[in-house]
Amino acid sequence: MSNLSGQKIIVGVTGGIAAYKSCELIRRLADRGALVKVVMTPGAEAFVTPLTFQALSGSPVHTDLLDPEAEAGMGHIELARWADKIVIAPATANFLARLSQGRAEDLLSTVCLAAKADISVAPSMNQAMWINAATQKNLSLIEQLGINIVGPDSGDQACGDIGLGRMTEPMKIIAALELDSASNPLTGKKVVITAGPTLEALDPVRYLSNHSSGKMGYAIAMASVRAGAETVLVSGPVNLDCPLGVKRIEVTSCAEMQSAAMAEAAKADVFIATAAVADYRPEQASPQKIKKHGNEMAIKLVRNPDILAKVAALGDHLFCVGFAAESEKLIENASKKLISKNLNLIVANDISDQSIGFGSDENAVTLIGPDFELELGKSHKRLIARKILEVIGEEITK
Ligand SMILES: Cc1cc2nc3c(=O)[nH]c(=O)nc-3n(C[C@H](O)[C@H](O)[C@H](O)COP(=O)(O)O)c2cc1C
Repeated sequence: MSNLSGQKIIVGVTGGIAAYKSCELIRRLADRGALVKVVMTPGAEAFVTPLTFQALSGSPVHTDLLDPEAEAGMGHIELARWADKIVIAPATANFLARLSQGRAEDLLSTVCLAAKADISVAPSMNQAMWINAATQKNLSLIEQLGINIVGPDSGDQACGDIGLGRMTEPMKIIAALELDSASNPLTGKKVVITAGPTLEALDPVRYLSNHSSGKMGYAIAMASVRAGAETVLVSGPVNLDCPLGVKRIEVTSCAEMQSAAMAEAAKADVFIATAAVADYRPEQASPQKIKKHGNEMAIKLVRNPDILAKVAALGDHLFCVGFAAESEKLIENASKKLISKNLNLIVANDISDQSIGFGSDENAVTLIGPDFELELGKSHKRLIARKILEVIGEEITK
């Protein structure tokens, strides 16, 4: 039996060409025993009639915010209170913009703002609209609000373009909702994550560092909160906002990251090291700005401590996860690291592919444990983050 059986689900439909796919979504949710109510935007009514959804859901369809009759019946607050889950499929670019700003100018956005239920969105739009910086900015705001983003998929589009932006198929949306409803082994556990680069000072104005954006670690922190874990993010300097529900400790150098990570990991259940910690630091940071002199300059570097190895040595109570960025012999080198650092899981990624990794929103990784290897194809870092947490959850309950 589906864990969606008996759940009260609002299906929000917005004005996109994929609105016809919502019919299939509603049918399949009803098949699984979910109680479905449909809320449509005025834009959606131009694509599919409320009557179709009424027949499929067996319940009146809600369309108007400022309708005295509707408010006397099941008004926006009642709908918001009724729902265990809200899934908006398709979610237009316009709706995502409204959601990201907390606007309440139509029934669906008002219900979302008033609801305590888990919200999922399945974006659907032309590929150029999807990659537009405004849409991507709205999406990152939505992510920070703890809203679950399902898809979109890549492929042929109704407008003739090819690319990312197709609404994820209804059965995949249902699988994502079921995954979210599954009891999670990480609920109540403490997860500590390091993210971003470290900065190693040369003098008061200069430093050695790297291009780590922190996106992978932040995506993992968001997935960890969603899984119900107490989540601590020890973060080097990055250009990202702290995800909702995460305790962030901001650090600069490897030494600072190490002491924060060790203190937090001492009472944690899982430690995930995604930070790109500088391997070396200047032996001495000059207290004064270093002046120009001569044509050459030598800086003596000394080895930084290996934070992951030190945390892993704290004891067997910790499930330790490392990342291995390799440019050759990916599996072989990552497997060696798994053993040499005494880790429970290593996430290996091939940095020779320029289109993924540092700074990018996508990645392609292989998860390697002591007795398994799981290749995850190229996908958004947030989906990879969820999969990593799912595997950790399975491993800690073995
Ligand atoms: C034929 C047609 C198809 C459209 N398809 C989409 C779409 O797939 N995704 C999208 O974001 N907007 C699409 N739009 C634009 C939206 O309908 C428009 O932004 C509208 O204001 C969305 O309103 P809503 O978000 O309140 O439903 C389409 C417009 C037309 C005329």
